[in-house]
Amino acid sequence: MEILRLEETESTNSYAKEHISAMADKTVVHALRQTCGRGRLNRKWVDLGENNLFFSVVLKPSDVFKSVYSNLTQYASVILCKVFENYGINPKVKWPNDVMVDGKRKICGILCETVVEKGSLKGIILGIGVNLNAAQNDVENIPDRVVTALNLEIGKPVNADAFLNEFLDNFFENYDKFLSEGFKFIMNDYLNRNCFLEKDLKVQVLNEIKSGYAKNINNKGELILQTDNNKELILNIGDIL
Ligand code: BTN
Repeated sequence: MEILRLEETESTNSYAKEHISAMADKTVVHALRQTCGRGRLNRKWVDLGENNLFFSVVLKPSDVFKSVYSNLTQYASVILCKVFENYGINPKVKWPNDVMVDGKRKICGILCETVVEKGSLKGIILGIGVNLNAAQNDVENIPDRVVTALNLEIGKPVNADAFLNEFLDNFFENYDKFLSEGFKFIMNDYLNRNCFLEKDLKVQVLNEIKSGYAKNINNKGELILQTDNNKELILNIGDIL
């Protein structure tokens, strides 16, 4: 694993995408500042200052896509929860990979992008932003979302490098095992930290909104929604609204 350290870039995901051919498997692109950070659903990821984390993990597990790769964000969300737990907070996962404090305040975000060229998978970019040190005013000014940062939760500043190293050590410790065993490998850890099951949900799936009762997660990490007419919907992508 190699960490490429940048002072400033538009987006570590965009940088990784642009330079993916020259990057080895498990290269981490880390930037102190992001001028145009991107989130899911075409949202922006606001830069809350240099002591927060903006990084992208470039993975090149094979040149064909395997279904386990779509669970990588869930794997990362569990690892992030575990690192946060070592700092004394217990955030929970909102399917598929949002890490939330008290089920409502977002503390980090994951944007996974795949790069495919001529039918061959060139790599997977797992972009992660973690709010570690932010001012209360700044988090309150972020549009569309209720946001928090680790320093605001524990009442003291956090060392960003230490957090990053702990995340990467944990992530790569079981990465190969996760790839060979799939979602089942993290199923218990994921379910024990969920904050969405047994609730009525609205889920945005592409341009549609699906409503239903969150019954369970299957062994592929998909969400099983029970609709009003007692049908089961199995969702493998979506955003809980
Ligand atoms: C989300 O919307 O929840 C995902 C946010 C992901 C933000 C991170 S910050 C590092 C990487 N570079 C980006 O432009 N986005 C991701």
